[in-house]
Amino acid sequence: MKVLVVGNGGREHAIAWKLLQSPKVEKVFCIPGNGGTATLPGCQNMSLQVDDFEGIATIASVQGVALVVVGPEAPLAGGIVDFLRYRHGHIPVFGPTKEGAQIESSKLWAKELMHRAGVRTAKAVEFTELEAALNYLEQQPLPIVIKADGLAAGKGVTVATTLPEAMEAVQYLFKQRFTKILIEEFVTGQEVSILALTDGSIVRPLLPACDHKRIGEGDTGENTGGMGVYAPAPWVTPELMAKIEAEVLQPTVNTLREQEITYQGVLYAGLMITEAGEPIVLEFNCRFGDPETQAILPLLETPLVDLLIACTEGNLAKFPVLDWLPGSAVCVVASAAGYPGKFQRGDEITGLSEAKEKGAQVFQAGTTLNHQKKLLTDGGRVLSVTGLGVNLAEAIEQAYAGLAVINFPGMYYRRDIAGRVIPPEVGNPQDITPSDLESNLEPELDAPEVPPEAEPLPENAQQTDLT
Ligand code: AMP
Ligand code: GLY
Repeated sequence: MKVLVVGNGGREHAIAWKLLQSPKVEKVFCIPGNGGTATLPGCQNMSLQVDDFEGIATIASVQGVALVVVGPEAPLAGGIVDFLRYRHGHIPVFGPTKEGAQIESSKLWAKELMHRAGVRTAKAVEFTELEAALNYLEQQPLPIVIKADGLAAGKGVTVATTLPEAMEAVQYLFKQRFTKILIEEFVTGQEVSILALTDGSIVRPLLPACDHKRIGEGDTGENTGGMGVYAPAPWVTPELMAKIEAEVLQPTVNTLREQEITYQGVLYAGLMITEAGEPIVLEFNCRFGDPETQAILPLLETPLVDLLIACTEGNLAKFPVLDWLPGSAVCVVASAAGYPGKFQRGDEITGLSEAKEKGAQVFQAGTTLNHQKKLLTDGGRVLSVTGLGVNLAEAIEQAYAGLAVINFPGMYYRRDIAGRVIPPEVGNPQDITPSDLESNLEPELDAPEVPPEAEPLPENAQQTDLT
């Protein structure tokens, strides 16, 4: 069977890699893919844009693709599933329709859906006028959360601890031409990402994963697309998972179905678990998480291709349980200097085979192969390095052992991924000392300087997107 994966991140590398573990999958096409999918045996990149629905449909039909898996939110929000499924000969595609993808692309739409479904979510008020939003802010307790109503590549949410910060965030969003914003109450607790597969009727949650969204250690600094993840989160008990399924995931899918929305894909709930153990939805996403996927999929034993096809056929019930490897996974993201601000592309990456020898699984994200087959950086989040272990401590050790032998100019990664859930003396890899942290981290967290010997950056070489 041939499968087509849309996207070019670490998530899509992990999906392609996992799909190819099934003997049923003879080939994966990745559109456009990255340096990792280019060199993955059985995988072939196709240099099309993710919004070229016509081109993607043509490749899928010419190649006789049996399944399309859509990674990122933008093509889902743009209607790729509707296009492939209804306009082009019913190509089986894993992902929600444009209508369903609003669960991520419109926070207001998602809030209304949650209210109808009786799902607990943070209280929010909608604003379309700057003046009214600023006046409202003055009466609200701090911290307060400002959200754009629309896809914002990870830049749409500000948790403001002061009034000027909150006002600035509101002004910024209206300046960015968002026409609607939400001002939301700040919820405290422990955050967890629950990604569930759904065939539109039932759900099968994947392992609970904890993302670290801030760029700096100790969860400081700017928000990013995600700097590292551990799974499963040991503090999410089976009872809590059952509660999340019964009170959040299933009612949401039921309500989507009642509204006659075809939602066959991933329902990703970003949850805050309150001190009282109540799950509150902060956001829904309509796709696999990145880097959650790079930690979750290596632990999945049930063949991914069978699960995804079951979703598109509406018979996920034939998998009453999912099989998982015992143990834990930790994925640490290595980013380019400057990320999530401006960063540079085109630096050579070395040490990937050495990292593999150390037992780490490297999923590539912002990478590309040049004409000489050298692997170069080509994005903000460059690599996601996953370690597996019988417990979190072992998984952490393996991920960091892999990272220790990888190099590219300006490489940065957080050294505290999963550190907060295990005692520091177990969690900190022995070869990393506090002085390493001081000498290596500080300069990279500041705005990076292009080394004097470096070529001036081409016009399009600096990016501020969070991928
Ligand atoms: P998002 O981009 O929607 O994932 O939000 C980014 C981060 O902002 C989340 O991971 C949370 O840490 C934080 N956040 C979002 N909404 C709230 C809220 N209502 N209360 C507290 N923190 C929040
Ligand atoms: N890791 C966060 C996301 O995928 O949205």
